[in-house]
Amino acid sequence: MPKPKNRTTVKVTKEDKTNKKDKTSNICRKISPVHDFDEEEIKKIRLNLVEWYQCNKRDLPWRKLATDPDINKRSYSVWVSEVMLQQTQVATVIDYYNKWIKKWPTLVDLAKASLEEVNEMWSGLGYYSRGRRLQEGAKKVVEELGGEMPRNAEDLLNELAGVGRYTAGAIASIAYNQVTGLVDGNVIRVLSRLRLIGADSTSHTCMDVYWHHANKLVDVDQPGDFNQGLMELGATVCTPKTPNCSVCPLQKYCKAYSQVEVHKTDNASKLLSDVTKNGKIKMAEISDIECLVEDCSLCFDKTETWDPSMGVMNYPRKVKKKAAREERTVVCIISRTDSDNNLEYLITQRPQKGLLAGLWEFPSQLITDESCDITDTLNTKYGIVLSGDCKRLKVGEVVHIFSHIHQTYVVESITLTDHIKDKTNQDDVRWVTKDDFLQSAISTAMKKVFKAYEKSSDSSASFNKGLKRKRGKSQDTADSKKQTSLNSFFIKQ
Ligand code: ADE
Repeated sequence: MPKPKNRTTVKVTKEDKTNKKDKTSNICRKISPVHDFDEEEIKKIRLNLVEWYQCNKRDLPWRKLATDPDINKRSYSVWVSEVMLQQTQVATVIDYYNKWIKKWPTLVDLAKASLEEVNEMWSGLGYYSRGRRLQEGAKKVVEELGGEMPRNAEDLLNELAGVGRYTAGAIASIAYNQVTGLVDGNVIRVLSRLRLIGADSTSHTCMDVYWHHANKLVDVDQPGDFNQGLMELGATVCTPKTPNCSVCPLQKYCKAYSQVEVHKTDNASKLLSDVTKNGKIKMAEISDIECLVEDCSLCFDKTETWDPSMGVMNYPRKVKKKAAREERTVVCIISRTDSDNNLEYLITQRPQKGLLAGLWEFPSQLITDESCDITDTLNTKYGIVLSGDCKRLKVGEVVHIFSHIHQTYVVESITLTDHIKDKTNQDDVRWVTKDDFLQSAISTAMKKVFKAYEKSSDSSASFNKGLKRKRGKSQDTADSKKQTSLNSFFIKQ
């Protein structure tokens, strides 16, 4: 095996939210030249990227506030937008961001908000702990830090529990102009392609190198624009599935792009003879852009191959995710009409810890080997005893994927004509109208469940109308037959 030519020894400062002391421990990494940037490239990349960003940036609401003369407004607006943008697409965030800023224009306003209000505002955005942590952070700044946000990345990271390394870098560079890099999914993709980083991008080794590169590349005069440019490039040009290399301002410095070009023009006969059976080519067979470090921890694993049909999308390497856990849960939409003939639904609040903490939902129960019947829970928790009069119908199944759970909701509706013991004066149980329900702190999954219920009520209403016209008096019999078979569905499947 050829020996590495020249290697650069670099120091990577590891900052880790979970072990803040670690951030001072320097980790030495040897980066092969193929995965590194030289000074000349760094200068050009800064120039090209900042210029491109300034001409091509999307007009987004938080970008206006991020230039406000008031430093507290700047840091608050960047904080809110960056937290919302984690795991959520820009197009979805815009509306939530505008509403949030309208309701809580400053950190002081947010500090006064209740968790219930925050959850209501966050309803549908997912990963609800993000909103809670923002509010807790605002409260800490107001109550313990004299209303002033920490003024640099290190203090932001150390003093605010909900602020991680990425958010600290974003606030410090965009709102304070501090020369500090940041790494998110877009940055990982861009850097992986620029420098052929094909190893598992979530590994400690790769993460250390991404942070090292981000901190080395960041423009010293315009760090905020540089960092946003890197993310913007990943979001709009260097995308996961449809990269548009022809308009990329960094094309000249992109080794994944060069690799594709070399492959296209390389000696056809050599390549043709080396093509493996499935049409894939071993990395080492592509000349020129080759890492000479044996067992390099930034290159593809030895068993992996470069796929010519994927082009630059060979980077970053897709990491196989752990399969999501399968769960089935019975959800009951229980309705009644109040004394004014308004239709109301029963909802209940989830525990303050764990998945969807503090959110409201329809009474639900996990289906286990031992139990799939919710009747006992309805009785003990809500005082609802299902009598012969109540109408119980199967609505259908609704699937919702959480990050680690593949959840199937088996939805049924129960229309009460009478409820024996009303236990709804508990704090975590409420009867609400449809409008109240939609304004409550509910998850996207519950919104989907309610949509399925409304759709099935509409179709069963028109079905019943049709039956009425067709069969006249025999309708009751048809309905009760349908009811019996549906009820049997809910008794152990
Ligand atoms: N994604 C997350 N934050 C971003 C930002 N500030 N600019 C562009 N894309 C982003």
